[in-house]
Amino acid sequence: MTHVIVLGNEKGGSGKSTAAMHVIVALLKSGHKVAAIDLDMRQRSLSRYLENRKKFAETKGKVLPFPVMPEVLPSTIDSREAAREEETRNLTSALQGLADCDFVVIDCPGADTHLSRLAHAHADTIVTPLNDSFVDFDLLARLDSETGQLMGPSLYSEMVWNARKRRAMAGIPGGIDWVVMRNRLSATQARNKAEMGRKLEDLSSRIGFRLARGFGDRVIYRELFPMGLTLLDLGGPDAPVKLSTMSHVTARLEIRSLIAILKLPQRDQREAA
Ligand SMILES: Nc1ncnc2c1ncn2[C@@H]1O[C@H](COP(=O)(O)OP(=O)(O)OP(=O)(O)O)[C@@H](O)[C@H]1O
Ligand SMILES: [Mg+2]
Repeated sequence: MTHVIVLGNEKGGSGKSTAAMHVIVALLKSGHKVAAIDLDMRQRSLSRYLENRKKFAETKGKVLPFPVMPEVLPSTIDSREAAREEETRNLTSALQGLADCDFVVIDCPGADTHLSRLAHAHADTIVTPLNDSFVDFDLLARLDSETGQLMGPSLYSEMVWNARKRRAMAGIPGGIDWVVMRNRLSATQARNKAEMGRKLEDLSSRIGFRLARGFGDRVIYRELFPMGLTLLDLGGPDAPVKLSTMSHVTARLEIRSLIAILKLPQRDQREAA
């Protein structure tokens, strides 16, 4: 009954870990039992974010919600085949151990790894943050350089396609719901923004994803990391940091709008299933 949400995009720095942390805290705050798996064991951004949160809660004497966090380490075995088998076992048994969680949120590295592919094949929902740039768009689909026409899917879309195929072949009911989320939307650059919007709309129906409105480019996302906080931790009477500007309030609405568009199953729906 556990719903698996994978934050993925082979493009580095697109906002996976930032979005993962906000999704985790949103789900915790709505009373769900949540597990977080960081598959980027080199950068460990999500793990570091949660370590900062723990330190903040301890030093400031604040009560903050936390996810369960099992470690799934990459294999150190030399043989590629044996390493893959070990990683498959590690991730599968970690997921089996989280059967009592409502949600498992998996943050993938910005690279094509065996563990990342495996996580995608376990996903009920994939969230792909995408910087508003045609350099990042290139990992989803190729555009004809002269006409700007869509030529066909590219590396990351093919990976999601394969994950969908693997899931169907394994007989797991329900497909993978794929949501692409534009990130770091600029308040200026209107032409690029509109052109990206048109191309993404066009692509979404062709390769089967839904489009979320996304997050604006806001310095608050970077400022919150050292405290381990998210926008959803701010603003209440007991909040460690106040929501001080219109930009913060708008950013919080962006997070809520992402959660709404994910259309995640409610607890009673999961129990009925
Ligand atoms: N909406 C935003 N506005 C401003 N800065 C942002 C926003 N989203 C993310 N960032 C910043 O962009 C950088 C990359 O974000 P993040 O680490 O979440 O990306 P990632 O996809 O997880 O990267 P990687 O592929 O390296 O794991 C970080 O410095 C983060 O603070
Ligand atoms: Mg990351």
